[in-house]
Formats: sequence, C-alpha cells, structure tokens
Amino acid sequence: MLHLSVPSPDTDRILQQLRAESALPEGARVQTDPSDSERRLIPFIDNPTPSVAAHYPIVDIEVDTQTPRTYRDHLVDILPTDIVESVEWPRRHEFIGDLILIKLNDEQRPHGDAIGEALLRQHSRTRAVFEDGGVIGDFRVRDLNLLAVRDGHESTTRTRILENENYLWTDPTTVYYSSRLSHEREGTLATALNLREELGRPLIICAPYAGVGPSLLPLISEPDLIEELFAGDLNPSAAEFLRENIQHPSATIECADARLLKERPEMCEKFDILLVNIPHDTLEHLPELLPLIRPGGLVRGWAIIEHSEFQDAQVRVRDILGPEAELERRRSYSASADLCRLDARKAT
Ligand SMILES: C[S@@+](CC[C@H](N)C(=O)[O-])C[C@H]1O[C@@H](n2cnc3c(N)ncnc32)[C@H](O)[C@@H]1O
Repeated sequence: MLHLSVPSPDTDRILQQLRAESALPEGARVQTDPSDSERRLIPFIDNPTPSVAAHYPIVDIEVDTQTPRTYRDHLVDILPTDIVESVEWPRRHEFIGDLILIKLNDEQRPHGDAIGEALLRQHSRTRAVFEDGGVIGDFRVRDLNLLAVRDGHESTTRTRILENENYLWTDPTTVYYSSRLSHEREGTLATALNLREELGRPLIICAPYAGVGPSLLPLISEPDLIEELFAGDLNPSAAEFLRENIQHPSATIECADARLLKERPEMCEKFDILLVNIPHDTLEHLPELLPLIRPGGLVRGWAIIEHSEFQDAQVRVRDILGPEAELERRRSYSASADLCRLDARKAT
C-alpha cells in the first residue's frame, strides 16, 4: 500500500489533511519509517492534493491484514455470512467531530443499524453514526438519520471539531460545515499576515458567509492581526454557533444577508479583506459585495466552476474585479467541475 513518509512532527497535520480530503484509508495505521526512525509512514488512497503529495516521498509497503482494518471486518460478527458476502458495503464515510456520517443505497439501508454498530466497533472515538441523506435547503444542512450510538452516550448531532489546532462547535443538521476547505483556510491566514505586514497595522475583516467560523479561528488566534471583524451568516443557527466559537473583543456577529450589507453606509469601503465562501453562488453575489471593500482591499473567495465554463468565469471575474483578478483551480469538485479560488484586489 502507498504511504507518505513524513517527518514525525508533521504527522498530525498531514493525517488531518488526508482525512479532510477523504484520502485516508479506513483503519489507517501510522508506522515508523523503517529507513528513518525520525519519519512516519502514513497510508493514503486516491490522490491527495499536490500540496501534500509533492512535499513527501511516497513508499509502497506491505501491510498486516490480520487485525480488523475497516468496519466491514466487524460485520461478520454482527450479520449472517451470506448477507456480509452478498452486499456491496459502503467504502466511504465522513468524520465530523465525534460523529460518523455515511451514505447508504437501497441495498445497504436495511443493514444500517449493523453498519452503525460495526463503525462504532472500529472507531473507538466515535460517539454516534448517522445515515447521511445529503445536503438540503439554502443553508446546505444535512438530512441525518441515527444508525447507532455508543452505550451511555447522547445521540445529539451537536459536536465539536478540531481544525488546524482550533476547536469549534457545529451541528450538521442546522449549519453547514466541511473540513474539505481546511487547507484553504490556512492560506487565508497567510494572506492576512502578508497584508498586515504591507499595511503595517491590524486588519478590518469581513466574513459575511462565515458558517460556524472555521476560516476565522486561525485569524482571531493570531495576536494583533484584527482591528475589527464582521462575521455574519444568513442562517440563524450559524450566527448562534459563531457567537459561541468566535470569542474576540473586536468581533461583531450578525445573522444577516450579505447582499444587503452594502445598504449600510458605515459598512461601505471599510474592509481590508472580504471573504466570500458561498461556492455555488460566489460569482452572482460578488458585485453586491464590492462596495464593502476599501480601495486596495483584498477579496478572497471560492467558487464551483464547470470545466467547460472556466474561461467564461475568468473573464467575468476580471470584468467585476479588474484585469489582475486571479481565478485558480484548487481541487476537483465533481466529474465536471472544480472548486476554484478567487484572489483579487480592488482598484485604488
Ligand atoms: C459554503 S458555506 C461556508 C461556511 C463557512 N465559511 C465555511 O467555510 O465552513 C456558505 C454559508 O453561507 C450562508 N449563506 C447563504 N446565503 C447567504 C446570504 N445571502 N448571506 C449570508 N450568508 C449566507 C449559509 O448559511 C452557509 O453557512
């Protein structure tokens, strides 16, 4: 099996990133690199983003298959053998804090309880397992159905996640959160630090689609980075989580429609950085948000763009933000679309 050989201190960070990209195999075991005791070998599947794969040597080693390596190895203790052998079991699931979310098809659904139980046996830190019925509504919340909960524990969907060394509370049934952009959020911190250095002062930041605040935690943890922070979300539940997660004396938190902020004169031409993370609608919302940025300020946003529409989107972004605006493909979103990042500076 293919493994990345990483310096020991990088292990947790790379594990977290591979997990966020669904590139960590189930039952992954980290082991010491036999050729260098200061390095660890981390198994991976699919293609981790080039930012990870390009930085570490890849080695192919045999792995021990005796002990249960995936939840499927526990199913033989829970279900009759003929069922275990006849069903095509799900191969992917998602961790959100101490929850596991798993998608089931019609063949798998009747065995949902057994799948939940097997996942609890395999993952000792998981409290409850839910069937993931997909994303619903404008707020992109999950439709979840409980499959199994660990004895003596609550089946609540409220959970605490660890991202880039920061904890935050969330609940996938009432707010949107995805760990898939965690690496992008590290980049946002680097961008903000550069801008602070350029301006020689703390920044005024606007995050009007903040969700539960994962982009903001690295920013508020950095001393003297923030002069003022506006964090908002149209979803009232997200605004409540923001109040819980974002503890900063200079933060204003509101449940508000981002597109209406420009109607408040005190918000116009105020912000050094505007974060636009509403990937299905970023390009449509962008013109309504521009009045918020001060001349010379930065826009950083994410958009899902069909492969066939990338050139048009690039032209559109430059029409809105000027010829220097950059639209960069960051990762695959689906067979026909990419998640792209937009970086631009408002003309002075
Ligand atoms: C893709 S999520 C991003 C959340 C967060 N920034 C993150 O990275 O996890 C988009 C967020 O925008 C919010 N939203 C949707 N329409 C909005 C609007 N018109 N104004 C403000 N927030 C909105 C949704 O509730 C959701 O939390």
